Amino acid sequence: MSHGDRVLALPPGMRRIATSGGSPFAAVRADATADRAPIWGVQFHPEVVHTEGGRRMLENFVLRICRCEPAWTMSSFVDDAVATIRKQVGSARAVCGLSGGVDSSVAAALVHRAIGDQLTCIFVDHGMMRKNERAEVEALFRESLGIHLISVDASERFLSALAGVTDPEKKRKIIGNLFIEVFEAEAAKIGDVGFLVQGTLYPDVIESVSVKGKSVTIKTHHNVGGLPEDMKLALVEPLRELFKDEVRAVGRELGLPARALGRHPFPGPGLGIRILGEVSRARLEPLREADAILIEEIRAAGLYDSIWQALVVFLPVQSVGVMGDGRTYENVVALRCVTSTDAMTADVAQIPYDVLGRIARRIINEVKGINRVVYDISSKPPATIEWE
Ligand code: XMP
Repeated sequence: MSHGDRVLALPPGMRRIATSGGSPFAAVRADATADRAPIWGVQFHPEVVHTEGGRRMLENFVLRICRCEPAWTMSSFVDDAVATIRKQVGSARAVCGLSGGVDSSVAAALVHRAIGDQLTCIFVDHGMMRKNERAEVEALFRESLGIHLISVDASERFLSALAGVTDPEKKRKIIGNLFIEVFEAEAAKIGDVGFLVQGTLYPDVIESVSVKGKSVTIKTHHNVGGLPEDMKLALVEPLRELFKDEVRAVGRELGLPARALGRHPFPGPGLGIRILGEVSRARLEPLREADAILIEEIRAAGLYDSIWQALVVFLPVQSVGVMGDGRTYENVVALRCVTSTDAMTADVAQIPYDVLGRIARRIINEVKGINRVVYDISSKPPATIEWE
C-alpha cells in the first residue's frame, strides 16, 4: 500500500493485536476456522533495518507460526543452484555479460561451477568504467578463475551515441540498447548459444516492476527486462532471489577473492550516470581520476568495507577559484558516500573531516579541471544514491 493509505475497519473475525501512531491496525490476526489456517497481518515494514525487533517478528512468523525449518545455508544454496543450472542448460552453451561488479561475477562463477567451459563471459567496455576496471576483470576471470572471457573495447561507439544527450533515462536507454547490440554481436561469433546468464538480484526485480496503478518507472535498470525478444536466449538468473549480502556469501563459498566480493556496487551505465548532463571523454577523464582518489583514500582510512557505495558525481557547474596568482573557472564534483544494506534505503556515511579534507585536497591538486569538491549529505529516501 502507499503511504497515506490506512485500514479503517477490520472484517468480521479479525482483531487488532497492535497499533502504532500512524495506524490503528498495525498488526491483526484471525483465528483458524474449520476451512482455513489462522491469519496474521502487519501494516508496517518488519523487513527494514530500522524496525526495532523486525527480524524477530519475521523469525517468529516463519519458524514458530509457519513451523519452517531453518535448513537453508549458503552451501546448500550453491549445491541446489549448480544442480538446477545443469538441468536447465544441459549440454548447451551459455554466455554471461560481465560488468566487473559483484553480481555478474558471482553469477558467472556459479554457472562456471555448474557447466564449466560451456560458459563464455563477455565484458563490454563502454568507456564509462572505473580506472583500471577492464584489466582487473581480465586478470580475475582469465587468470584466477580460468573462465573463457571475451573482452571488447566499444568505448568509441558508446561515446558517439551519447554525444549531445543529457536526459538520464535517455542515456540509460542508449547505453542499454547499445550494450545489447555489442553483446549480441559478440555472442553471435561464439555461435549456437542457448542461454544468457544474468546477475539479477532481488532488489533489481522489485525496482523494475511498476507499482500497480501508479505506473512509475523509478529508474530503468538496463540489466533487467531490457533484452529484446528476438535474442531468443533463455535466461539463467541464479541470484534472482538473493540480496547483496547473500550474493557476497555465495561468492565466498565459491572462493572468489575478498577484494572482488567487497567491491561497492557500480551501476550498469557506469560513470555515464555520474556525469550530470552530456557524457564526453573530457568529462570522463577527470571523473575517473577523482573516483580513483576517493576510493584509494577511503580504503587507506579503513572505511571502504563499512560504506555501501562511495562515488563522485561530475557536476555541469563551474565555479571560480584561485590558483597561484590567477583565477580559475573550473568544474565542481560532489562526493557521495552512503551506508546501506540493500540500496533500498541509504544513510549518509559519517566520514571524518580530516579524511574528507584529504580527499578534496588531492582531487583539486591532482585532477585537472576540478577546483571545488562538495559532500552530499542527503539520505535515501527522498534522494536516491546516484544523482541521475
Ligand atoms: P538509486 O540511485 O536508485 O540506486 O538509489 C540504487 C542502486 O542501484 C544502482 N543503480 C543502477 N544500477 N543500472 C544499474 O545497473 C542503473 O541504471 C542504475 N541506477 C542506479 C545504484 O548504484 C545503487 O546501488
